[in-house]
Formats: sequence, C-alpha cells, structure tokens
Amino acid sequence: MGFYRQGLLIVNNKLRSCSRSIFTISQTVSICNALERTRDKFEKSNIPESDVSSKFLLSQVLGETNPKGYLNHQDRLLQSGELVELNRLISCRLARVPVQYIAGTWDFRQICLKVRPPVFIPRTETEQLVDIVLDNLPKKENIRILEIGPGSGNICLSLLKERNNLTVTALERSRLAAELTRENAVNLGLDSRLNVVEMRVDDETVIEEKFDLVVSNPPYVLRKDMRNLEPEISLYEDLRALDGGAEGLDVILSILKVAGQVLPMGGEVYLEIDPCHSSLLPDHLDSLPHKFILKQVYKDFLDKDRFIRLTKL
Ligand SMILES: C[S@@+](CC[C@H](N)C(=O)[O-])C[C@H]1O[C@@H](n2cnc3c(N)ncnc32)[C@H](O)[C@@H]1O
Repeated sequence: MGFYRQGLLIVNNKLRSCSRSIFTISQTVSICNALERTRDKFEKSNIPESDVSSKFLLSQVLGETNPKGYLNHQDRLLQSGELVELNRLISCRLARVPVQYIAGTWDFRQICLKVRPPVFIPRTETEQLVDIVLDNLPKKENIRILEIGPGSGNICLSLLKERNNLTVTALERSRLAAELTRENAVNLGLDSRLNVVEMRVDDETVIEEKFDLVVSNPPYVLRKDMRNLEPEISLYEDLRALDGGAEGLDVILSILKVAGQVLPMGGEVYLEIDPCHSSLLPDHLDSLPHKFILKQVYKDFLDKDRFIRLTKL
C-alpha cells in the first residue's frame, strides 16, 4: 500500500521521494556532528521533541533499537550508506511521520509490536488499562475476553502474554488493523488463543457468543477536539480510530449494547475514555437495553479520569 503525505510517497513505511538532503554522502560526519545537525534542523523546523527524535533516528540508522543506542558508536564516523538512511529518516520526521512508524516496531508492556500506518499507535497510558483488567480478572479457570478495536493488538496480546488462562475474540472494523493484530499475534506465538474478526460494531450488532469480560480502547475523541490533533496523528493515523462523534460516546454506547448481550450478570466492561466521559456517560446508561452501573473511575499518570469499570446489573 502506498500513500502521499506532505508531498512524500510512503510505500510500506519507506519514504520513496526524498526532499533536500541534510548530509551529502561524500561528507565526513561524526556521530556527534550528525546528532547536532539533525537536532538543529528539527528545532528550526519546529519538530516536537527534537532532541529525542534526533537521538532516536540516529540510533535507528546505527541498527540500535534503544533510543540511546547511538552512544555505543560515538568514536566513529558515519558510513555513506548510513548517511543515505539518516537523510531518509530525517525527511520522514520533517514530514511529521511519527517516530513509531519510522521505527516500524514499538514496545508495549512486555511485548514488541509491529506498527505501520495508518493503524493506531499504542499509547503509553493504555498500558495501565491492561493492569486494571489483570487486577480484576474473574476468579475462574478459563476466561473468555471480548475486545473491541484491537488496532495493532497491544491490549489483547499483552493480556494473552501475561496470563495463559485467557482466550480473546477481537472485533476490528479496519482490515489493515485486523491484519496487523493477526501478524503480531503470530510473531509473538499467541495466535492460538486469539480470534480476530473483521467487523464494525454498531447499534445493530448482535453477538450470540458469551464472554466473561469486555475491554476496549475505543475511538473516544469528541468531534470538536478532532480539529486540534497534532499533524503526526491527523496526517498518518486512521481517524476512524479516534473519532467518537459529537460527545465522543458513539462507539462506547455501541460497545455497551454488545456487552449487555455477551456478559453474564455481574460481568464487567473496562474502557479507556476522555476525561469528560466519567460525568457524561452515567446519563446515557439508562437508555441502554441492559443495565450497567459505573463502578470505578481510574486516573492516568497525568491525574485525568482515563479509564472506567462498569458492571452489568
Ligand atoms: C483508539 S484505537 C485503539 C487501538 C488499540 N486497542 C490501542 O489501544 O492502541 C481504536 C480501534 O478501534 C477500531 N474501531 C473503531 N471503531 C470501531 C467499531 N465501530 N467496531 C470495531 N472496531 C472499531 C479502530 O479501527 C482502531 O483500531
């Protein structure tokens, strides 16, 4: 798949048409000098976190996965092939391609996932949602979990990796995301306990199968906030992964309708939310066909209401 962004052609996460290069391959460039010039270019171009981005890209070019890996190569000069690659990665970043897509892989809790545009990049705060679920798993031998919107598979694959008495069914509307979740599951050897189904959950969705627990990091951004997204998000990520409608509740309410069908009484739903949802959502619960109570609200590391736990009555 190829697509254009900011005048660049990106095919399989590789930048194909390059803008003006910072380094010419005949130059003698030390690691230290490469870092300084890259950072300088990013600062002048208002690229966020210019220092971290420069170190990350340089490490990447040197074959290091750790963002500080460039420190292992400080005594040498960059080879011509490395300069070509650094130019390519710098052009990507100048076009606001997220560093995660440039790297092509990203760590989430105990697993390393492939990430590629436009599939939603796992965010650090979502690691906490996995903790909340793990802390509250039903006390039974074989637990069946339903996830809505696995994206790259970060939540379901972390759950499967960290507990071996779980099976997960994951419903994903995007074909590219469903394929990426399956690919990550195979790479991690977790595919035998995961069933990924390509389908869009909406108000008409009917699911016969029963589950013990439902989890989702759904699209929850309020429509008015979609205008303020950073270019890294608005240009490269699938906006259907973020847009939750006028109040950010469109998919959340559909998920709760499905959860009502598939959960037993006392079954629980764990959701990542926008901070305003902890007060907005309770007013909508009475309109659902099955009754839920908002049992707990959890704050993220920025002290914002970010996760909720609901119980089916
Ligand atoms: C915010 S992303 C979360 C992805 C991943 N679980 C994570 O935590 O990073 C939401 C995901 O839900 C999927 N999605 C959005 N609406 C959906 C729907 N109605 N039914 C199923 N999947 C949906 C999107 O394609 C996207 O992969």
